[in-house]
Amino acid sequence: MQKSNSAVLLPNPIGALVIPDLPERRSALNPCYFSLVIPTYNEGRNIAAMLERLIPLLDDAYADRYEIIVVDDDSPDRTWELACAVAAVYPQVRVIRRQDERGLATAVIRGWQVAGGEVIGVIDGDLQHPPEVLLKLLDAVTAGADLAIGSRHVAGGGTSDWGFLRRLLSRGAQLLGLVIAPAIVGRVSDPMSGYFLLRRRVLSGIELNPKGYKISLEVLGRGRIDRIAEVGYVFQERVAGESKVTMQQYVDYIHHLLKLRSRGRVGRIRSVFPWGRFARFGLVGLSGVVVDMAVLYLLHEPASPLGLAWGLTRSKILASEVAILNNFVWNDRWTFRDLAGQQNTSGQWVKRFVKFNLVCLLGLGLNVMILNLLFNVFHINAYVANLLAIVLVTFWNFWINLKLNWRVTSDR
Ligand code: GDD
Ligand code: MN
Repeated sequence: MQKSNSAVLLPNPIGALVIPDLPERRSALNPCYFSLVIPTYNEGRNIAAMLERLIPLLDDAYADRYEIIVVDDDSPDRTWELACAVAAVYPQVRVIRRQDERGLATAVIRGWQVAGGEVIGVIDGDLQHPPEVLLKLLDAVTAGADLAIGSRHVAGGGTSDWGFLRRLLSRGAQLLGLVIAPAIVGRVSDPMSGYFLLRRRVLSGIELNPKGYKISLEVLGRGRIDRIAEVGYVFQERVAGESKVTMQQYVDYIHHLLKLRSRGRVGRIRSVFPWGRFARFGLVGLSGVVVDMAVLYLLHEPASPLGLAWGLTRSKILASEVAILNNFVWNDRWTFRDLAGQQNTSGQWVKRFVKFNLVCLLGLGLNVMILNLLFNVFHINAYVANLLAIVLVTFWNFWINLKLNWRVTSDR
């Protein structure tokens, strides 16, 4: 006899967004090991297919030691009802229908609040996150990672047919995050990912206060995380329905980052700044300064052997480009040698070279602005101003290249 929806629906957790420790009394027989939350809004055309893909996969690997918790925000297309129909047949599927609260990030946390697993996780409900990758994420957590996160920007990662604008928006958001809260956004190669698992103890007892879409930021910013594993996955095209991302989510994203940054972070975040690698980058940068200065002198100084006496900005731009070429070769072969070695096809080399130029050209724009500011507004000697500008831009170039360039690999 088909169970009624009310028999299947879980009560809505309310109040503070705090995930409790494991329930004292857990069924001694088969304690739940893994709880997967699927946040849904208007996924009526995806949810059944999603569950049909997940259940056999998890049955094989974890028999009856897992649960899937669909947290739906009272979707107009009644996704929750379709999920209940599956839950009536598969008791490991549980459903929450939220009517008084909305939002992706809080939906995930509410699901984790009722979860019984030692390991908790989240996956999109639209089949854009390949369910098969779950087993690799689970292996990583079982092997000791506190957090195992799906990434589009490591080996085996990529996006399907994203247009240039969507890539630019996604990368732009990441760039902004690396500037606002580097210690959080810089911890993983794909901080925008909503596909990850973590040990319950990472968050248990901590009051969470996310904003908008990116639950990953809340976990990275407040969780007790020492070991992070990244697993490459290719973000799929949606087959039905559409993304709910609007400009509001971008505003919430910045607000969320500022909140995490301002109130400090709970949890043991070790210094993420790799000073040793930065020192190498700095030495390479020094060689670039010599090249930059020498070419600037040759082009700008009338008394130089070339005697061209070009204008300061034109000379500077050319001098910088020659220095960029010099720096790329040294950084690829020395500073980031270990990372470059994992992505050594010629296509990846060319991609790194183009990205290095883009990051450095962005840095050049910054450099010329700072140089002209110091030279024309603060009347600092041109060469001293140039040196100051180079130092400031070196930090920018290093951080963005490390996080967005040498970590990126295949795009398919
Ligand atoms: N309960 C609930 N409430 N679920 C929501 C809400 C909401 O307000 N908004 C979106 N969802 C669900 C969607 O139904 C889907 O299952 C999942 O959250 C992701 O939403 P999409 O709208 O499909 O996001 P996307 O395709 O742009 O993906 C981006 O955001 C995801 C979430 O952070 C990418 O960055 C993904 O990597 C990321 O997982
Ligand atoms: Mn999606």
